[in-house]
Amino acid sequence: MADKRVEGCLKLLELASAGKFDSRQLVILLETLVELSAAAAGKAVREDTGEEIWVAPSPPSGTKKEIKFRLKPPDSGPAWQIVLLRDDNSPYLREDLLEGIILRFQWLWQREARCQRIAWRGAAWQKLLGVLLLLAERLEVQQVLNYVVQWSARLVGARYVLLRLHDARTDKLSLAAAWGIEVEKVPAEIREAPVEGTVAGKVFQEGKPVIWPPAAELASFFPRFFSEVKSGVIVPVKFKNEVLGTLSIYDVKERTWRKEEIDLLYTFGVCAGLAVRNALLVRQVEKFHRHLLEALSFALDMRNPYTAGHSWRVGVLARKIAVRMGLPRELVDKAYLVGLVHDIGKIAVRDAVLAKPGPLDPAEWEEIKRHPVVGAEILAKVGMDEDTILAVRYHHEDVAGGGYPAGLKGEEIPLLARIIRVADAYDAMTSRRSYRRSLEHEEAVEELRRYAGIQFDPRVVEVFLSLPRASIQEVISSKGGGGYNIPFIEGFGFYGFELRKKVQGVGADNLY
Ligand SMILES: [Fe+2]
Repeated sequence: MADKRVEGCLKLLELASAGKFDSRQLVILLETLVELSAAAAGKAVREDTGEEIWVAPSPPSGTKKEIKFRLKPPDSGPAWQIVLLRDDNSPYLREDLLEGIILRFQWLWQREARCQRIAWRGAAWQKLLGVLLLLAERLEVQQVLNYVVQWSARLVGARYVLLRLHDARTDKLSLAAAWGIEVEKVPAEIREAPVEGTVAGKVFQEGKPVIWPPAAELASFFPRFFSEVKSGVIVPVKFKNEVLGTLSIYDVKERTWRKEEIDLLYTFGVCAGLAVRNALLVRQVEKFHRHLLEALSFALDMRNPYTAGHSWRVGVLARKIAVRMGLPRELVDKAYLVGLVHDIGKIAVRDAVLAKPGPLDPAEWEEIKRHPVVGAEILAKVGMDEDTILAVRYHHEDVAGGGYPAGLKGEEIPLLARIIRVADAYDAMTSRRSYRRSLEHEEAVEELRRYAGIQFDPRVVEVFLSLPRASIQEVISSKGGGGYNIPFIEGFGFYGFELRKKVQGVGADNLY
């Protein structure tokens, strides 16, 4: 008998040290108490709903006495009434001792749970801080969104996460990133959640977390696709008081979301909002910046009708080369921008020189040759990054040396400048000029091949020539932002592409 009591106490100790509470543990606790008190039966009654759990190892008979205790689980869940039915005269364990054991058990249980909560909170907030620091470094919108879904899943160990952003035009919450499933595989009806009548919409409107499944009237928008989903929580993605979207975190197991988990996700949602907002602003500024540069290059090209759209086409061709070379996204974007602004220094060249159809005299030639340096200085003044500035400065350098302004050779010339050199030359050759017709693709290719290793980086030429012909043709034949109808002037003959010393003898608009 005594062994049974010790065994029962040990079981209680073990249960308390788990510090957890769920229906399975409640049953184990009830069984242990029934055994410990030698009761005929025991029941646990949930205080708020009246739900009952019974344990009856032997059929109740004779005079039974009810021993009652109130049990408050170690989380924010509801309290339970424990009722043990045992023989009134049982000498097995005195009622006051039993009560003392249960009180001590509850105290240990709560204490252990508190310790675990503190440890969890410490670890979770430390993790959150690390994630936020990493998030702060990311400025590309999709990268930020992907990071948010990935880390919200990891923070609380969830299976699926959907991040929706509010689209003001449609007043819907559109799926922007997902974790646990590819965005493309999410059915259309889940990808776009209306604000009215959906759980995500409620979170968006009220700016407060909702534990899923919510009240029945809101469950109409049940994500059928996630039939395995058993529990979830949706938190707002906020920037100050503005809700930008929602973060839905789903799990495939029944789960009681603890207050600290909701707090953690809510805080993460607020910080994610800041990161998303920043990334969107950066994207907006970059877009504005790009449009400004496009407008500037357009204005420059328009000074001479024969070069209309040239900068834009050079930018697009340079981007295609950069993509084909497998350069990182950042450099691919820069290749396009450098293309747009490579000749910006021609702003400082007089119209009489820039649009001169006849040969240039030495002074005019010197004026033209200054444009890469002037361009680099202009870009430095507007705070452009160094890669772009250097690429503009050296876009007339030759790989074998002898170019201008510095006479650099080979890899001394920045890669972006070497890319622009090829794109620039090809577009200049295939464009009409006031004194010659445009070259055919084959003729231009021949020139590029001939001067590969002399003027052009052979590797860049090779990559350029590996681009599908149609892809190049598409750019060359487009009006390229210039939208200018270039007149073909007969009588100037074919000049072809020549080495610079020969080019010196023609109009300035051939000096791509
Ligand atoms: Fe140039």
